[in-house]
Amino acid sequence: MIVAIDGPAGAGKSTVARGTAAALGFTYLDSGAMYRCVALAALERPREEPAALAAALDVQLGERVRLDGRDVTEAIRAPEVSEAASRVASDPGVREALVRKQRELMSAGDWVAEGRDIGTVVAPDAELKVFLTAAPEERARRRARELGTDEGTVLADQALRDQRDRTRAHSPLEPAPGAVELDTTGLDVDEVVAQVVELARR
Ligand code: DC
Repeated sequence: MIVAIDGPAGAGKSTVARGTAAALGFTYLDSGAMYRCVALAALERPREEPAALAAALDVQLGERVRLDGRDVTEAIRAPEVSEAASRVASDPGVREALVRKQRELMSAGDWVAEGRDIGTVVAPDAELKVFLTAAPEERARRRARELGTDEGTVLADQALRDQRDRTRAHSPLEPAPGAVELDTTGLDVDEVVAQVVELARR
């Protein structure tokens, strides 16, 4: 079974997806971490085509994220990598390579996969699709707390990235047909996880 959880940054996808995977005994797939790994590699190797990097990179996901054997768990969360990830994610060649890897990974077993295009592109046949949203200010507040930075700056960067993610020609961020939309503004994680688990069990 596949549970697809999509939505914008700061909507609570990672925490909700992790919690749901733990509650159901499924494996958690953080597809954003794969885009972040490509972005980090592209920043370090600016002469190479991001799409070629995406096809060649060995990304291991889990408690720690490894890129070609190197632990990049913290490095891929740096603000410049977030910015670069949003840019490489609009490259159709990068998307194609990563979607292929994600489908391969999920071809067997039970998964809770989180991203922007899981329900629309990667796994359109997922048994459950959830689209998480939250008010922009609340999303910025959560991200700022996570990053230990200023909320105003996060809000401005977030608006830029949201705009780019929603309007890109290839796989724009939008709810999949049949997705259940959940607004997490003012809800705590446990409540949202309980709702998603209940939907999955049904
Ligand atoms: O969820 P995140 O912040 O780790 O994602 C990093 C970037 O990758 C973000 O700009 C959106 C993009 N992304 C995407 O386009 N498709 C996905 N399935 C996951 C992430």
